[in-house]
Amino acid sequence: MRVLITGANRGLGLELTRQLLARGDEVVATCRVPDGATELREVLEQSPGQGRVLPLDVRDDASVAAVAQGLASLDWLINNAGVNHRAGFDTITAATMLEAFDTNTVGALRLILALRGRLSEGGRVVNISSQLGSLARQSPGFGTLGYNASKAAMNMLTRQAAFALPKQIVLSIHPGWVQTDMGGPHAAVDVVTAARGVINVTEQAKPGDSGGFFTYIGEPHPW
Ligand SMILES: NC(=O)c1ccc[n+]([C@@H]2O[C@H](COP(=O)([O-])OP(=O)(O)OC[C@H]3O[C@@H](n4cnc5c(N)ncnc54)[C@H](OP(=O)(O)O)[C@@H]3O)[C@@H](O)[C@H]2O)c1
Repeated sequence: MRVLITGANRGLGLELTRQLLARGDEVVATCRVPDGATELREVLEQSPGQGRVLPLDVRDDASVAAVAQGLASLDWLINNAGVNHRAGFDTITAATMLEAFDTNTVGALRLILALRGRLSEGGRVVNISSQLGSLARQSPGFGTLGYNASKAAMNMLTRQAAFALPKQIVLSIHPGWVQTDMGGPHAAVDVVTAARGVINVTEQAKPGDSGGFFTYIGEPHPW
């Protein structure tokens, strides 16, 4: 199985890469600066011939097109790259909001548009979303307005993409509050558990789940 991951150089993306390689999958591990992705390269070197690193900035159309051009087929697309600015109503600017949307929402859209024709029948599109994008939670969300809004929009993208890709399964998954640079060291879930959960939920998803929002342990997440 061939899997493309965005933001594979650190955090959840790096651990997803590690676990998918360990399962025997082929991983197209993408990140903004491959030359600086030392840990990712070490992970790939441990599974020779199973993976490669490609440069990809999800905010850059040309970069997405270049990656798509080099790919014949794909089984899973994992839209993992994301940014989270600490900015609530008192401090947020339009530029910050736009950056959050360009990365978290439009970035995922760019990948789906570029790769949809290469996805295998029964293939998966996984949008790594967040509980902070849930309207039902009605929480102030740690002063991360752009993040919360862009993940809510990502969830709608998941819904719409599920209609547009009837031969694939499209999911939003909340990976938990995870111990990464974004989640911080006091987060509730270690990155190994979070990545394992995301892979299990993706693997076990059925066609009827397409367009759904799930937690990393496979429970439906309130919208
Ligand atoms: N950690 C949590 O508690 C938590 C909770 C819910 C959801 N999530 C979601 O899980 C995903 C992974 O987060 P994480 O915790 O692993 O965060 P992280 O450690 O901050 O990693 C973020 C990743 O996204 C990449 N990225 C950012 N902008 C990019 C762009 N324009 N193009 C390509 N890559 C870009 C980063 O690359 P650079 O190194 O180049 O910056 C990095 O690889 C995100 O979508 C996040 O929203 C995380």
